[in-house]
Amino acid sequence: MAYYSQTTDFYKGNDPKELLVKFGSPLYVYSEEILRQKARDMKNLAELPNFQSNYSVKANSNVSLLKIIHEEGLYADAMSPGEILALEAAGFEHEKIFYVANNVSAEEMKFALDRGIIVSVDSLDQLDQFGRIADGLEVAIRFNPGVGAGHSEKVVTGGKKTKFGVSMDDIDKVKEILTRNKTTLIGINQHIGSLYMEKDPFLAAVKNLLEIAKSFKGLKIIDFGGGFGIPYKKQTGQEPLDIASLKAEFTEVLKEWMAETGETPLFKIEPGRYVVAESSILLGTVHAVKDNAGTTYVGTDLGFNVLARPMMYDSHHDIEVYPNDGRALGQEFEQTVVGNICESGDIMAKGRLLPEIKTGDTLGVMDAGAYGFSMSSNYNNRLKPAEVLIRADGSVKLIRKMDNYESLLINMLNL
Ligand code: LLP
Repeated sequence: MAYYSQTTDFYKGNDPKELLVKFGSPLYVYSEEILRQKARDMKNLAELPNFQSNYSVKANSNVSLLKIIHEEGLYADAMSPGEILALEAAGFEHEKIFYVANNVSAEEMKFALDRGIIVSVDSLDQLDQFGRIADGLEVAIRFNPGVGAGHSEKVVTGGKKTKFGVSMDDIDKVKEILTRNKTTLIGINQHIGSLYMEKDPFLAAVKNLLEIAKSFKGLKIIDFGGGFGIPYKKQTGQEPLDIASLKAEFTEVLKEWMAETGETPLFKIEPGRYVVAESSILLGTVHAVKDNAGTTYVGTDLGFNVLARPMMYDSHHDIEVYPNDGRALGQEFEQTVVGNICESGDIMAKGRLLPEIKTGDTLGVMDAGAYGFSMSSNYNNRLKPAEVLIRADGSVKLIRKMDNYESLLINMLNL
């Protein structure tokens, strides 16, 4: 079994089991070094002075991690007032934030506009609503690129069957609303979906949006969205997205468009997963192992309240076994790793080939940094885990406290 954590020197000498003893189980552990490296990959995805990478906060909104991403020079896109507040806490200047919201209230839109944050609207309805409220509004519009991509139909955001964006067929209606409300269109954006491992769907959508851009002269921003995938199946040799060739082609397409149109807008992307996913391993503890009608169940504290992706999208996360008793890992056989939530669907890995796991062992769930903690919940009144950061020098810093029973009940009112 190939150990990703060893090849990347993830723990830097820290023992996973000891981390759990110190900070509680389960625990999200982050690597500062990997986070910085991935942030740099995305910051430079196009080699142009008018290119900017906006980290998509929904993937992970821990303020300490946001600070590092800010230090690396990325900008950010936010989806809600809560995400804007996290970015402010991490030191992001308002001009570095793009509010790419979806079906928001007027109050939420005002929250961003009052701060001078550039906003995007997702429908003709909201373009009209906010244009009528805000005099001289400057706004970006999210178009639906008509093509989509992603690892699950639940996260494909482009194409006719999704709720997102304004259709390209509505460009005339867009122009009519802009003129009627004296609204200025400053940008256009899109997002085709999340987690693609090939460059082609992204590049096709880029070309498509650049075509739309020709209908609106003088745009300041053209934003191509996120979705860049990471290899979740490293243990079976899955290759990463070929960033170098994507970069070369993407840069070329943008240069050609600028040469043809004579315009130099700010080009943006909005990566979330790529920046944070591989920077984290989720640790948990094995509390019971049993055999039920021929299936070996490994019972852990890694329920879908902690990491929802396997339950929600049948997502695969590689798992590493750290034996509690120092034994050598044995032959692999099929085991089903489950959590401690009262639902049969609470499965982290079904029939997975793993060396024999014993009660008391620690498990590491790989690539847990994106849509891990940010989608965790208090279901079954369980406590959300702590988060720690392993710094480049190997020291460990607590970056989020574990919930406690007081915080769990804090908003509960007694009749
Ligand atoms: N921009 C917009 C407008 C988005 O809706 C998203 C993700 C992104 C950028 C960033 O996409 P990324 O680079 O992270 O793929 N919970 C799912 C993924 C949901 C993605 C939602 N939107 C998962 O765990 O796979």
